[in-house]
Amino acid sequence: MTGDEGPERGAAVLQAIRSRRVVRAMTAEPIDRETLETVLDAARWAPTAGNRHLQRFVVTDDAGVLRVLRAVSPGMLPRPAAAITICTDRGLAAGYGFPPDAPGPFVDVGTAMATILLAAHALGVGAGPVTSSSRAAVAKVLRLPDSWRPELVVCLGHPGPSSPPPVHGRPGLTWRDLTRWVTRDRPS
Ligand SMILES: Cc1cc2nc3c(=O)[nH]c(=O)nc-3n(C[C@H](O)[C@H](O)[C@H](O)COP(=O)(O)O)c2cc1C
Repeated sequence: MTGDEGPERGAAVLQAIRSRRVVRAMTAEPIDRETLETVLDAARWAPTAGNRHLQRFVVTDDAGVLRVLRAVSPGMLPRPAAAITICTDRGLAAGYGFPPDAPGPFVDVGTAMATILLAAHALGVGAGPVTSSSRAAVAKVLRLPDSWRPELVVCLGHPGPSSPPPVHGRPGLTWRDLTRWVTRDRPS
């Protein structure tokens, strides 16, 4: 604790978690560099397996690169103003002794993604993840080193007028539907 995590801060964090939605309609307005850097700094604080930080963040706000990135990503519905591609440095992972199918580095992609989505939301920037891309094509357009595997692209942009309202996407779904308590004697 740093002393500024009072009840109000806690409520604000919980409200940000609840109100975040994937944004799939984005305007052409650019995202300023300082905002992008704040989002990237937040990603740096995401928890990682063994505190190894195997992920690398490849950022572009170049319209030409973004156009090609979108062309090789069928799941990319927005026309983003910027994109952060989360890559895993598989050479680094192997060097630390992670087998290729170790869960940690995959989970790390998710913690980075969730942190980026929340940071963007906190800054009023729309964001949406895309896994439906051609990995080989993404690696080529971003000129990635051989050992960097692109895992997921986060689109960023100012929310467009047809963005969904800030309510949860699955009305009626509660944490109880997703949860099972277990005691020593029996599950309930
Ligand atoms: C690992 C992962 C991959 C996703 N891939 C895509 C994608 O390719 N295209 C897309 O439009 N949304 C994608 N999404 C967004 C989900 O569809 C979205 O989170 C879900 O519909 C719930 O919406 P909400 O986050 O606004 O509550 C992905 C989400 C995750 C966690």
